[in-house]
Amino acid sequence: MFITALTLVAAICAGASAQLTGRVGPTTPLSQKTKVCNVLNYGGSVGSNDIGPAIGSAFTNCVLKNSGSVLYVPPGNYNMQTWQTLNGGNNWAFQMDGVITRTGTAGGHMILVNNANNFEMFSSTSAGAFQGHGYQIRNTGPRILRIVNGINFSLHDLIFVDSPAFHVIIDHGSNGEIYNLAIRGANLGGSDGIDIWGSNHWVHDVEVTNRDECVTVKNPSNNLLIERIWCNQSGGSAIGSLSNGINIHDIIYRNIYTNGGNQAFMIKSNGGDGTLRNVLFQNFISRGTAYGLDVNQYWETAASGNGVQLTNITFQNWDGIVVDGVQRPPIQFICATGVPCTGMNLQNVNMWSSTGKAVNKCQAAYGTGGSCLKSGSGGGYAQVTLNVGQPSGYSTPQSMPGDLAAGFSPTAAIPIPSIPTSFYPGLPQISPLARNK
Ligand SMILES: *[C@@H]1O[C@H](CO)[C@@H](O)[C@H](O)[C@H]1NC(C)=O
Ligand SMILES: *[C@@H]1O[C@H](CO)[C@@H](O)[C@H](O)[C@H]1NC(C)=O
Ligand SMILES: *[C@@H]1O[C@H](CO)[C@@H](O)[C@H](O)[C@H]1NC(C)=O
Repeated sequence: MFITALTLVAAICAGASAQLTGRVGPTTPLSQKTKVCNVLNYGGSVGSNDIGPAIGSAFTNCVLKNSGSVLYVPPGNYNMQTWQTLNGGNNWAFQMDGVITRTGTAGGHMILVNNANNFEMFSSTSAGAFQGHGYQIRNTGPRILRIVNGINFSLHDLIFVDSPAFHVIIDHGSNGEIYNLAIRGANLGGSDGIDIWGSNHWVHDVEVTNRDECVTVKNPSNNLLIERIWCNQSGGSAIGSLSNGINIHDIIYRNIYTNGGNQAFMIKSNGGDGTLRNVLFQNFISRGTAYGLDVNQYWETAASGNGVQLTNITFQNWDGIVVDGVQRPPIQFICATGVPCTGMNLQNVNMWSSTGKAVNKCQAAYGTGGSCLKSGSGGGYAQVTLNVGQPSGYSTPQSMPGDLAAGFSPTAAIPIPSIPTSFYPGLPQISPLARNK
């Protein structure tokens, strides 16, 4: 039993490190962060109308003055009116065990963590939450959390609800571990779950409900590993939208489950330049999405340039079903005619349609594994369609107990969920919830 557990841990570490360039997460364990900077000692109180200033004061007057400290928000309800930028902390943690409800209306970010090094943001009870009440100020209020240029950090065991705008943004930085999160936004665009870019980040065990990005990679990025993601009535995950100077490579998404999304996965751009290369999309299950495998280089507004080069991208072990495969293809590669896609590889990709009829589309797309991809390489051919039948490897995709049947109304308060313990059919989470440790 002991040996089995060790073997499992070793296997997980090996799997992660093959893709990552080095370790992720804070360099100092929490047990060595012993100085507690409690917001209640810096002007805060449970039931406060604005916990913002106490968070700022605990950071400036305690965290920045004591290496190895923990900014602590104890359990309880707090309102927040003024947003806080926490800049430059080194060797610290932010233990958010309370429930913070947005009441201020300014734009920006409720919490902006800048240049943090050796940093851990988490809830020890796995019940700490930010309630954005976005329904009150839809798309004019703040995003909830942005971590900019974080190095050696983690974000885990927190709940983000109904942001007026995006929920979590990981902006550049390196060696981040983002896991055990529940994000629940409204059934409306502009409600992005996680937008991430940077180097050597590991995202795992995340659930997102919304109607925009689930977990989406942006530019520039390299060596990201994203796994065990449950898009539970969401816009679905994507890479993009890509425009100019794109440099994204060595990305793995695996064990991604999407229930009722806009797509099983999308790569989106229009015009632009640069390269997206060496990407693996492995083990995807999708049910009832609008689009399936969706590469679209004519998506929304065009940037200058002939197009982003997509090359060496493998889609492996997919089992999914779209709502109406004639209206929206289960598989489409609409590549830039000026810069054709090359090395698009389909391996055991089985995408089907609830209507029993489907039409896949290809344009300027080269690769292996069938559908309407052309083999080899060559010029930017015009769009071709292919009527397809049910793929032989298709099996009614597995589901998760507790799949949401519909998203949450954008005009009413959204309840705070708890964080699940599994995010992909048949797989447990990689690290236990903090409250179960
Ligand atoms: C981040 O952690 C790695 C060890 O994993 C260490 O080599 C590196 O110096 C750290 N970076 C900073 C800026 O402290
Ligand atoms: C293609 O991408 C895979 C990752 O999906 C990588 O292992 C492989 O080395 C890449 N091939 C080339 C020729 O770069
Ligand atoms: C996903 O759906 C289930 C079932 O309704 C629910 O329990 C869970 O909280 C949902 N997840 C989120 C993040 O809203």
